Parts: sequence; structure tokens; C-alpha cells
Amino acid sequence: QEDIFKKLIAHCKEYGFVFQSSEIYDGLGAVYDYGQNGVELKNNIKKYWWDSMVMLHENVVGLDSAIFMHPTIWKASGHVDAFNDPLIDNKDSKKRYRADVLIEEQLAKFEEKMDKEVAKAQKRFGDAFDEKQFRETNPRVLANQQKWDELHARFSKALNDNNLAELKQIIEDQEIVCPISGSRNWTDVRQFNLMFGTEMGSTADGALKVYLRPETAQGIFVNYLNVQKTGRMKIPFGIAQIGKAFRNEIVARQFIFRMREFEQMEMQFFVRPGSELEWFDKWKQTRMKWHQALGFGEENYRFHEHEKLAHYANAAVDVEYKFPFGFKEVEGIHSRTDFDLSQHQEFSGKKIQYYDPELEKSYVPFVVETSIGVDRMFLQIMSASYFEEELEAANGKKDTRVVLKLPAPLAPIKLAVMPLIKKDGLPEKAREIIDDLKFDFNCQYDEKDSIGKRYRRQDAIGTPFCATVDHQTLEDATVTIRHRDTMLQERVAIADLKGIIASQVNF
Ligand code: GAP
Repeated sequence: QEDIFKKLIAHCKEYGFVFQSSEIYDGLGAVYDYGQNGVELKNNIKKYWWDSMVMLHENVVGLDSAIFMHPTIWKASGHVDAFNDPLIDNKDSKKRYRADVLIEEQLAKFEEKMDKEVAKAQKRFGDAFDEKQFRETNPRVLANQQKWDELHARFSKALNDNNLAELKQIIEDQEIVCPISGSRNWTDVRQFNLMFGTEMGSTADGALKVYLRPETAQGIFVNYLNVQKTGRMKIPFGIAQIGKAFRNEIVARQFIFRMREFEQMEMQFFVRPGSELEWFDKWKQTRMKWHQALGFGEENYRFHEHEKLAHYANAAVDVEYKFPFGFKEVEGIHSRTDFDLSQHQEFSGKKIQYYDPELEKSYVPFVVETSIGVDRMFLQIMSASYFEEELEAANGKKDTRVVLKLPAPLAPIKLAVMPLIKKDGLPEKAREIIDDLKFDFNCQYDEKDSIGKRYRRQDAIGTPFCATVDHQTLEDATVTIRHRDTMLQERVAIADLKGIIASQVNF
């Protein structure tokens, strides 16, 4: 699985999806650029989210707020004081780690051991295997489960108590070693604020210390009154936004999973106090359905309740996906209470309230938030779509292909049009087809190399359809259409291409 992940990273670069930022200057840690195919996939992910949130919900509207905001916002939101990670250094390798992540990895090891036992037994017993019973009775599974339970309880308590000495003690007791030096020579754990700061205005005027926003959500909170009033929005309603966020993360080598500059798609849903947990549950289910609608297999998703609630939340859950490196968070759903709006009310001195005509009273609304990273979703989709397939070649020899089985609406290119040869008017005909279809979806012209090679190239970037123009095309206005996943080919009229493809590439 780790091996597949390395191949996926190489594939992302080779086919123009993701490049290391500033690569010719040896790169910049945990910052990435999206190439010609990556930007298309990313835009399609954003559209899938935006359409399902804003277009399909009458009571959700959009916003695009600035990255720079008044610095007091971050004081009010709690980020200046509490947006910290507990860090620990290894004295031998001089490498820095997140103490909580080291302990989470230890928990994952116990889980892995249990899963391995289950997989072994499953293989042995086949259909007759009762996983639940096995987990409840097998001594090796039970021993690891007990270790997991004990560690989990101790870890949760340490996080909730903000007990840094206890985090260090856990790392020592679990004999966790530095992956680089292999040593257990650790420093104390200390807090590190994740916000990037910079200065606005010239120093002669007295520069203002500002932050690059670590979440887009605060831009929504501080515009709550603007949108509610100008849009005449009635509670319950939501405000959705897609935009960049920045965090000075200590990063494991997980590619675009955890970045220092990334993009979020967030939606704040404003509700009556007391109804927030009901809405929390509704959005939890709605968001899980959105993920599962992509068709990557329901068994690859799960909910994860938080070990520790953020300073603003009274309920929180993650949607996790089974990445090649294990189940990891893709999206967070948080019941943020009235924390943010109340804080902004206090710090700004402006009344941020809603007059509820049914209750005939004013209140500070409560908020349920859904928050997902575009880049993390990108990685999730790439992980789920990447396949190496063995094929039976025509001459009986084994052949392989790499194919990205992207959901067609997300694919960067929907249709590649290929003249069989570069003469006899075939290229002109191919371009004519593209000129007719390019207003409906993204098409690509490809005439270089053999048809087989061209199909492979399109498979590797996830193009769901290829149309080949040959001499027969000039006679009867038909082309061969080739389907990415089945590799089946059929003859269809050029006039039918638009309908066939459009039926597949729109959600
Ligand atoms: N407004 C709430 C909030 O920001 P979060 O759990 O810190 O909550 C939400 O972040 C989502 O943003 C995560 O589920 C993840 O998809 C994405 N995300 C957070 N930090 C990230 C990072 N450093 N790199 C990439 N994506 C990140």
C-alpha cells in the first residue's frame, strides 16, 4: 500500500497533476503547485461541492471573503491563544514531530495488528468466518485491543487536560522512537502556534501585524450580518465559501495530505440555539452521502469522533477515508455553538443577533460547520482512482496499464479525439469534431504516437472517452468511441457523441 502511494505521487508529477512548489530551487516544504490536469480536477471537485451546497440548497448562499482580515478577529476566534500543536524534538536527529501524531501512529499500529489477525483468519475460514465473534474471542486481538483502549484513554485525557508532560510520558512509556534516528532521546513537549504572520502597511506608518487566515470560516462569521441582512436570509440558513488557508504545519511525508498553503471548502449553517445537535446530525449524514455518491465503496469511509473537542465545539466528527496509509480525516463536521459570533460581538462591540419572528425574540445564532480540504479531497480521489491493471495483449503476452478511474464528471479531459493517421483529411475532421463539442466539455486533440499509446496516455489521466477518426468517418460520419474502464469500443454517429458523453460527465 505504501508502495502504491509512492507510485501515485510519481504519477501525479509525470502526468501534470501536482508539482513540488519552486522545484527548480529544490522545492519548498509542504507547498505544492497544480499542473495542467491537476487544476482541471481541482476545479471539478470545487464545482461538485459548490453545486451540491449552494445550487441544490435554497437556503445556502456563497461568499468570497479576503485572506487578510483585521488581526483582532484571530484574537476573538481564539486562534492567537489556542491554535497550537504540541511539538517534540528528537535530540539526535534534530527532527521535529507533533507529539499527538506520534501517539496516534502508535494507536494505528495496534489497530493494524488486530486487522492483520482478522485478515489471516478470514483467509483461513472463508465464508464461514464470523468477524465479530473472532474479534471478541481471539487472545491476540484482545491483547492488542486492551493496549489500544488503555493508550486511547490516557491520550484523550492528556489532550483534554492540555497536559504536555503527560504527552511526553506517554511517548516514553510506549517506547516510541524517532523514525529517522531510531532513538528515544526526546525533548519536552511544547506548544507552537500554527498561524503565519506578516505586516501590513509601511513601518513608518506603524505597520499592522496581520495573519494569513488559518481557516476560511472566520470570513463567514464576520460577514454574517452583511449576508443575512442583504440576502434577507431566514434561520436556518448557510453561507458557503471556497478559499485558501495557511498553517505552519509540522509535516509528515504525506504529499498533499497536510500542506502549509491549502484550500478549504467550508459552510457555516446558522440555526436556532438548542437545535444545533439535530442539524449537526443532518449535515453529518448529508456530507457522508456526498462522499459516497462518488462510488469509491462505502466500506472505505467511516466517521471518527474527536478525541478532543476544539475550543469552540460541543460536538465534532470527521469523515475518514481509507488512504493507502490508513483511515484519515477528509472532512470535519463541527457544532461550533454560538462561540464565534458571540466572541465577535464582544470584541467588535457590534450586535450580532437574529430576530426570530416565530419565537418573537433575538438571539446569537448557533453554528454547524462542514469543512473539507480541496487538496485532501484531491488526494482521496486520486488514491481511490489509481489502478495498475494486467491486460491480455493481442499476441497473448501480458501487458499492463495504469488507469485513473476518476468519476467522469471529475475527469480533467472528458473526450480525446484522435485521427488514426496524420493525413487524408483525418486531422481536420478530428478538429471539426472538437470545435463542435468544446463548448460542452473539455476535449483534447491527440495525434502523436500509435493509437494504443494514445489510449494509454488518456487512461493515465483518467479521460473517460476517446473517439478515433478513420477513413470510414469521412464516408459515413461515424467514429469509434472507446470507453476507459472497459476498454470496449463501439461505432457511433458523430451526431450522437455529444449526447453519449454529456449523459456521463454531468452529476
Ligand atoms: N473551520 C474548521 C477547520 O478548519 P479543520 O479540521 O482544522 O477545521 C478542516 O480543517 C479540513 O481542512 C480538514 O478536514 C482537511 O480536509 C483540511 N485541512 C486542514 N488542515 C490542512 C492542511 N494542513 N493541509 C491540507 N488540508 C488541510
